Amino acid sequence: MEVKKYILGTPIETEAAVYEVETAEGPCPYLDMDAKAMEISCRLGKQDMVYGLGQQVRGINKRGWKYVSFCSDDPNHTENKVSLYGAHNFLVVNGEKPFGIFLDTPEQVSFDVGYTRPDILSIRLSSWNAKCYVIEGRSAYDIVKTFRKLIGHSYIPPKWAFGFGQSRWGYQSQRDIEEVLEGHEANGLPLDMIYLDIDYMDRYMDFTVDEEKFPDFPEFVDKVKRKGIHLVPIIDAGVKIKEGYGVYEEGTAKGYFCKDQDGKDFVGAVWPGRVHFPDMLQEEARKWFGEKYKVLLDQGIEGFWNDMNEPAIFYSQRRLAEVFDRLEGCKGKNLDIDSFFEMQGMVQGLSNHREDYESFYHSYRGERIRHDRVHNIYGYFMTRAAAEAFERIAPDKRILLFSRASYIGMHRYGGIWMGDNHSWWSHLLLNIKMLANLNMCGFLYTGADIGGFGSDVTEDLLLRWYAFGIFTPLMRNHSALGTRRQETYRFADIESFRGLLRLRYMLLPYIYSEFMKAALQDDLYAKPLAFAFPEDSMARGIEDQLLIGDSLMVAPVYEQNAAGRYVYLPEGMKLYRMRSPEDMDEEMLASGIHYVLAAPNEVLLFVRAGKLVPIAKAANCVADLDMEHLGLLGFVECEDAAYELYDDDGYSKGCSLEGHIRKITPKEVGEGADTCIC
Ligand code: GLC
Repeated sequence: MEVKKYILGTPIETEAAVYEVETAEGPCPYLDMDAKAMEISCRLGKQDMVYGLGQQVRGINKRGWKYVSFCSDDPNHTENKVSLYGAHNFLVVNGEKPFGIFLDTPEQVSFDVGYTRPDILSIRLSSWNAKCYVIEGRSAYDIVKTFRKLIGHSYIPPKWAFGFGQSRWGYQSQRDIEEVLEGHEANGLPLDMIYLDIDYMDRYMDFTVDEEKFPDFPEFVDKVKRKGIHLVPIIDAGVKIKEGYGVYEEGTAKGYFCKDQDGKDFVGAVWPGRVHFPDMLQEEARKWFGEKYKVLLDQGIEGFWNDMNEPAIFYSQRRLAEVFDRLEGCKGKNLDIDSFFEMQGMVQGLSNHREDYESFYHSYRGERIRHDRVHNIYGYFMTRAAAEAFERIAPDKRILLFSRASYIGMHRYGGIWMGDNHSWWSHLLLNIKMLANLNMCGFLYTGADIGGFGSDVTEDLLLRWYAFGIFTPLMRNHSALGTRRQETYRFADIESFRGLLRLRYMLLPYIYSEFMKAALQDDLYAKPLAFAFPEDSMARGIEDQLLIGDSLMVAPVYEQNAAGRYVYLPEGMKLYRMRSPEDMDEEMLASGIHYVLAAPNEVLLFVRAGKLVPIAKAANCVADLDMEHLGLLGFVECEDAAYELYDDDGYSKGCSLEGHIRKITPKEVGEGADTCIC
């Protein structure tokens, strides 16, 4: 049996797994399970690698740090952190006898991966209630694939969502959006999506549109759609408390909001000021919240991003009152070092405070349950609310949906973005590493805020980030209010950005095809080299190169002022140094280590031996791509080599490989192809 399930106590159901696994009897051969200490542990061999944990700080190999699964709204993803927005409790211990662990519980879980003691992996639960799945396999890659079967197929967005999206917190009005559109059109920069951040709403109220800023929203949505562009609005978890606001009034009347200790609607605060949180775990409430998306779907919207759904709480009404009281006591006093820091801590500690998460309740599966016990599935269930509603409202059509908070299982309903990163070189590297671990946990439709969300970007960082971002399924440039404007057309070297963006569209047949094959076969779109070359000890340790699909390896440059980088080739590959679809050169490289030069506007794309990459003529948006007349990049010697291309209409649901695969051979591309194989 490949998957064994151990039941610890009385687990809270998360619906992460899609099939039942028989409960195993007796001790687990891989793990020590200590109910009293609420700890699961095992020894790590010197050379063992530990993969997984999805959205987390640090490397692909998680060894040597501690991590806490507790969905957190923290915009500073520095290496001293232990939690980000997602809770992905899946690990593979890749030792002599590799095995995987999935600890299925919506409560907080802490992982000490050789931090306290380098030779021990220890997992601490908040209570002894969880389903502990143990997965066996011949290799780490096998184990990941078995795990992915257990948790079900990954979410598939519409094809246009593989185009490029421009976003910024601070596009205030229709005029601002038009400016983005014009910036792209005037400069020949391809574009498929413009994102609407909270500014489009009427006073940050979900499912409303500010009519002053957008006088005829449906007309505007339609107008941009005729240009092939989709507007993608944000939806936040908190519902503004405001008399006369339908969502608030209905939610209160029907008892759909989370309750406080006394059974009253819990009051937190986020962008709109004071809010209630819909009880996404309560079936009726979830259904109700999901149906609300129809308000925007009816106005022509076909995609959404769900935010602040850890849920983020700037402050709770109760704690704020307490802090004010205590501050009152500080007034006029000569604050000494202790009382000064205490006061400072009180104010800083208002946001996302643990006590707040312990002070409200859900009604889940007929039981009242305190939030902290189900914290990690709140964002998952919000996204599920939307996805389930889309099934009812538009059963035949794929709707774009991605979330900030997530838990394993949510990957079936939507993608995620990597949250509020910064315009730091280290975050470009984190983006590369996280992509691999997220893929292992089922999150295929993902990407980071390209260029960085917080802080000021520089042109060279943005170029380098695009050079990697063109390979991430979700390719979005997003930045925060108050930071340097980050749209590519605002920089000096627009030509280079144009070249990079057009490369994305050139590669789109490959990106889409490999994504779809991975999604439909529970495989990885992006994987570490170690998965493809498990015997190669050098490849095993490489974390800054990735395999993208079956044919490609990428090796992005992630250091400022670097002339290039060292690249390790486990086998001979063909390097395409690409600046635009019309401007690339190629060279054959033997296996081994090479220092490869790469100017900031150059993409290093390595095609594996015997593999092909289908390419299209770049277009201004996905809808304009000619998927019939494709070219091939590649490296094959035999004449009958072929690439198996997956393609479909890009909208319909019920995708399957059957009927959607066609072979593309070097012979047939001949004429009309941009580039041919040699
Ligand atoms: C959160 C999101 C960010 C968004 C901002 C304003 O910080 O993560 O993407 O721009 O809220 O809505």
